[in-house]
Amino acid sequence: MSAAVFPVPEDWADKALIGEDSYAERYARSIADPDGFWREEAKRITWLEPFDTVKDTSFDKADFHIRWFTGGKLNICANALDRHLVERGEQIAIIWEPDSPGDPVRRITYRELHRDVSRFANALKERGVAKGDRVTIYLPMVPEAAIAMLACARIGAIHSVVFAGFSPDALAGRIEDCGSRIVVTADEGLRGGKTVPLKANVDAALEKVAVDTVVVFNHTGADVPMVEGRDVSWSDAVAGVAEDCAPEPMDAEDPLFILYTSGSTGKPKGVLHTTGGYAVWTSMTHQYVFDYQPNEDGSMPVYWCAADVGWVTGHSYVVYAPLMNGATQVMFEGVPNFPDHSRFWDIVDKHQVEIFYAAPTALRALMREGDEYVTRTSRASLKLLGSVGEPINPEAWDWYHRVVGERRCPIVDTWWQTETGGAMITPLPGAIDLKPGSASKPMFGVQPALLDAESGKVLEGAGQGALVITDSWPGQMRTVYGDDQRFFDTYFSQYPGYYFTGDGCRRDEDGYYWITGRIDDVINVSGHRMGTAEVESALVEHPSVAEAAVVGMPHEVKGQGIYAYVTTTAGTDDSEDLRKELVQWVRKEIGPIATPDVIQFAPSLPKTRSGKIMRRILRKIAENDTGSLGDTSTLADPSVVEDLVANRPQA
Ligand code: PRX
Repeated sequence: MSAAVFPVPEDWADKALIGEDSYAERYARSIADPDGFWREEAKRITWLEPFDTVKDTSFDKADFHIRWFTGGKLNICANALDRHLVERGEQIAIIWEPDSPGDPVRRITYRELHRDVSRFANALKERGVAKGDRVTIYLPMVPEAAIAMLACARIGAIHSVVFAGFSPDALAGRIEDCGSRIVVTADEGLRGGKTVPLKANVDAALEKVAVDTVVVFNHTGADVPMVEGRDVSWSDAVAGVAEDCAPEPMDAEDPLFILYTSGSTGKPKGVLHTTGGYAVWTSMTHQYVFDYQPNEDGSMPVYWCAADVGWVTGHSYVVYAPLMNGATQVMFEGVPNFPDHSRFWDIVDKHQVEIFYAAPTALRALMREGDEYVTRTSRASLKLLGSVGEPINPEAWDWYHRVVGERRCPIVDTWWQTETGGAMITPLPGAIDLKPGSASKPMFGVQPALLDAESGKVLEGAGQGALVITDSWPGQMRTVYGDDQRFFDTYFSQYPGYYFTGDGCRRDEDGYYWITGRIDDVINVSGHRMGTAEVESALVEHPSVAEAAVVGMPHEVKGQGIYAYVTTTAGTDDSEDLRKELVQWVRKEIGPIATPDVIQFAPSLPKTRSGKIMRRILRKIAENDTGSLGDTSTLADPSVVEDLVANRPQA
């Protein structure tokens, strides 16, 4: 592991919102006096009614509850838009960069965004959407995605955004789970010059689950069939509706959104976030992590988070936090390698981006193409770089720092999760020296601990173990939608009294945290979370598959790839054609992000005598680490392993 340390640059230490001393002091206060600390931080939000209690939380089984800012009332959409109108109504909120660089850019001011959101909120109301109703949003990276989310928040409806790369089946499951009666989509998406048939996917999903209304944003202009009485175009929906829509006063603990994410077992879980704590947490972390403050000339720095709104990073750091903080931000529809591998950096130059936040997988993919695609662009506007979603390996970190940022831009490697709402362990650019590959130090209010994975004992000092958080923070998820028991069981039962992250982590002598990756049956493919159980259940639905076991494997670009062991039904020919068919099958069942990298046909799987699949061994074979398979004596039939090793496909 890299031992290099990059000290905070002097100019950052001087001018950043949080310097070294203030980090230490505020962190200590946030733990010793959470009430005082959060009362102060909560001032960043415009409350309609003040809260009585800051923190009312317990991770104990007998008295389990998580409540923040109780009694307070607010509207997060009004915090993102209305309160800016006086001072920055004419400031650009969103610079939308289309998939194709030749197509027109859209620049939307805070005033225009406020108007569009209000109109769409009224359109939702006209179609019967009320406070507490669930609205499924299946949109590409267009401003209308943010508009639809904010419109829901404005009227107190709970949005459930489904990533536009998910299949009709995955979409149907998510519509059904949260019982939403309305879907907002587009005719088509556009990514890297290719169209994505969103409306057709919705139609296919709605063969499995019914809704009352589908609103279709006309994006590419494709001629899509509209179902009479159910489907309405976005423009018809907003035609003639009022431009005024009073924001609904929401309790701090009223639900804001559901976002489905993969776990180690079963179907994806509907992670539920509420309003007050999420608003404080995301706006605070965004401000401090990106040191988001006006430039010397009073303008707001151009900020660009390259995440899709379909993931939590897009929720917190594209839609809510930057707008609450009055940012000017780039929203990008496309992909890093279209029309060529300079696209990210061309956009940086085109819009004079100062803060850039992306996932390591994109960086690794670009790094492979050579420096020329980067160095032929200027990037002089860049000041700060960020990384999120998966561990960034020191090589990629070095490339990002040296080639992209020309050694002048600090890199904030932010560790967090859908469940945590915002950044939990992260450098602050003016306060924390950087170590490539380490997410460094905890954010205010976050108390990480490492436990011995077996005994559950707390490890002190330097060491490695299971990463847990010992107390609640405002942006914590509140439950699994409709399933409080699953929430408790998933996160609080393994190590009683702690929130278990699912990640392994090392802490060094300086108290820096180094995330080592998931230690449960979740894999991280290109920064996207995937439950191995989900891929397995997709595979076994194929008529030729009797049994399947899926594990992660190291992958140079994606971080982890998907390695599937498949036992076919008796009499099936384990052919190359079937292998291809199964790959397509999984893509269709879940979506292209779940494409298996390797499928190994296995006459049988290694099992204990009680019939449990020994995943540890399957992981080793997938990693091609067959020299250290460990103890196989508990296997019902050890020869199964020899057979798998001998027939491992050469990827
Ligand atoms: O394993 C960690 C990894 O991504 C997981 C969370 O995934 P998701 O809920 O999809 O949220 C991703 C965006 C916040 C974590 O459990 N992860 C996320 N950020 C980092 C990371 N691993 C290492 N370093 C990071 N900076």
